[in-house]
Amino acid sequence: MKRRVKPEILDSLPPGHPDAVASRADLRRLNWLMGNHRWLVRELAGRHRGGRVVELGAGGGELGRAVFAKIPSLQAKWTGLDLVAAPPDWPAKWMQANLFSSGGTAAVAAASSVVANLFLHHFEEPELSKLGALLSGARLLLFCEPARRVLHQWQGRLLGPMLNRVTRHDLHVSVSAGFLREELPAALGLSPRDWHWQVHTGFRGSLRMFAERKEG
Ligand SMILES: C[S@@+](CC[C@H](N)C(=O)[O-])C[C@H]1O[C@@H](n2cnc3c(N)ncnc32)[C@H](O)[C@@H]1O
Repeated sequence: MKRRVKPEILDSLPPGHPDAVASRADLRRLNWLMGNHRWLVRELAGRHRGGRVVELGAGGGELGRAVFAKIPSLQAKWTGLDLVAAPPDWPAKWMQANLFSSGGTAAVAAASSVVANLFLHHFEEPELSKLGALLSGARLLLFCEPARRVLHQWQGRLLGPMLNRVTRHDLHVSVSAGFLREELPAALGLSPRDWHWQVHTGFRGSLRMFAERKEG
């Protein structure tokens, strides 16, 4: 299946729209099913070596809250970055900005760990390459994205009756815009001279990547 990036409905709805609220609730359940937050929390606990963490496309802040519950020291170091405003009672730093605006790029440049869940698939290769160029100060990257497989399109169809119409559409679009094998590190322009990385996929639709900068 060729990679195709198309607009997702959730990104164009006002945050308070009933379909947006229902779709974000679906996303929480899908994240739970995929185990993405559990994996990201575990990886951060084992691999973060100090400094700031920026979460790209932090959305409703669920990942941050899951991290703070397990690793409270990261609350003071965390920046959630998103186009939307901070969620109610958000306990850490938040930047409402486009990733590619000056505020967004400054937040990425200041971070030693950069994390994202279901976010990078929104972008075409030239934008991913632009993001890669912003990572010169980063030491750790942790990303969970859709794996672009027909199997997951079918899994999405099976879940369809339980999902809001926006999620049904966006899930299909997200899988088509997802990644396979080494596509993500290649699009970010990571060099094996500077980075050690691993990418793996499972049966529940996620492609997970960690990358650690080589010392010295
Ligand atoms: C599919 S949602 C994922 C939200 C959250 N990470 C999760 O797993 O539930 C994608 C998020 O990316 C944000 N987003 C999309 N394009 C963005 C951009 N250019 N800069 C910053 N945030 C962006 C959207 O507002 C949305 O909250």
